[in-house]
Amino acid sequence: MTHDLLYERLADRMRRQIQRGVLRAGERLPSLRRLGRDQRISLATAVEAYQQLEREGLIEARPRSGYYVRAAPTAPSRGSRARHLSRTPMPVRNPALLGVLDVQSRRDLVPLHTATPASSLLPTAALAASVARAMRRDPETALSYTVPQGLPQLRERIAERYAQCGAEIDPDEVIITAGAMEAISLTLRTVTRPGDIVILETPTYHGLLQAVAAHGLRVLELPNHPGRGIDPAQLRELLERHAVRAALLVPSFNNPLGSLTGDEAKREIVAACAAHGTVVIEDDLYGELAYSGERPPPLRRYDDGEHVVTCSSYSKTLAPGLRVGWMLGGRRRSELLRTKSFSTVATATLPQMALIDFFARHDIERGLRRLRRALAGNAQAYRQAVLDHWPEGSCVSEPAGGMTLWVELPPEIDGQALFEAALAKGVGILPGHLFSNRGDYTHHVRLGCGHVWDKTTESALRTVGEVAKRLQG
Ligand SMILES: Cc1ncc(COP(=O)(O)O)c(C=O)c1O
Repeated sequence: MTHDLLYERLADRMRRQIQRGVLRAGERLPSLRRLGRDQRISLATAVEAYQQLEREGLIEARPRSGYYVRAAPTAPSRGSRARHLSRTPMPVRNPALLGVLDVQSRRDLVPLHTATPASSLLPTAALAASVARAMRRDPETALSYTVPQGLPQLRERIAERYAQCGAEIDPDEVIITAGAMEAISLTLRTVTRPGDIVILETPTYHGLLQAVAAHGLRVLELPNHPGRGIDPAQLRELLERHAVRAALLVPSFNNPLGSLTGDEAKREIVAACAAHGTVVIEDDLYGELAYSGERPPPLRRYDDGEHVVTCSSYSKTLAPGLRVGWMLGGRRRSELLRTKSFSTVATATLPQMALIDFFARHDIERGLRRLRRALAGNAQAYRQAVLDHWPEGSCVSEPAGGMTLWVELPPEIDGQALFEAALAKGVGILPGHLFSNRGDYTHHVRLGCGHVWDKTTESALRTVGEVAKRLQG
């Protein structure tokens, strides 16, 4: 532990010196031995400090010459994969995360950078009619504050849906929020304090990294495996080594991988966290979007409300702009409700009323079946286009659900460079380093596959493939 702190402190000091220009680009750094002697630290600590700065792209090792400050220290240059469990909890240190909003708000791109279903795959007209009806029927209520917890009929519907997949939920513990993101942030705010250690998957959704950064938490990375999701043995290893306050996990269709953690592994994850007093914050946003059609159980199915807070929303199944989500508070219900009411008073009333109207008139299961089929078809078509048109050696994930594909590029192609070149051609994709807290996955990109498969999408994927081949040179 002391050793970890020492190397971090040394790396911090040197990072600041590089950023302030005290150590200049191209400058040779002291040898490991000299550094060890000067700083009165072991050789192993000196090596760890240099390796940390190397991973951040700030310094480089030149064969038989030593370590040098890199000429362009801003580009993250970590290896392509996070192969190992992280040994030291680290604050989120990926400056690129701040830029992601600029790209996400662009409307002039072929939107392969978003993980949103095309509006033609969602019941847009029916929802518009429900919004109009709710407003017409009771404008006074629709425009008033509602209770912080949300409308009872909507909470009952959410609880019923969970009961169908084996999780017995009391409607009274459901709290309506502005999307899953608010539910997650409120839970983090309620159960953690700045400096606490949380476990996040790697790779994981950049929004979760931003939420964790905003709360000043330190992150341990837990690999999510393309074919099988989270490995409970790896989770246990982290829990045994560190005092982990919370684990923020996406076991049903990780974004970007689309992987699914199996039922038995889910049971083990809950048991391990319970044994260590670690709160599980489950992001169940994509749970309804299994390509097999079978809704996987949420982690909450294996818990009695003591250890798991499940968060989700209608953003990916009905309409992201309604901003209606929820959390299943379990025994933390009152605390979470207090945080919710102090932070946003209540979730907007009209969208909740519109959803109640919508559910009374429409069979959501039929719509979901259609959506799942369309997304599965899209994933297959997008995948094939990457295999056909992108440089040889590109590997693309085979998602089991959700709406994202993860592409590992040949090592000569940088994900950020491809992202920038694609933008210049009017195509949005996201660089892989956004999906890790320290800028891993420099040779990956993420594609959203919620946009309908048509000539525009096909041509966009072909264009990105051509650009990638050019970058490969
Ligand atoms: C894994 C994950 N969690 C949360 C969100 C945000 O969800 P919401 O729109 O419900 O806030 C996203 C959006 O893409 C996501 O991919």
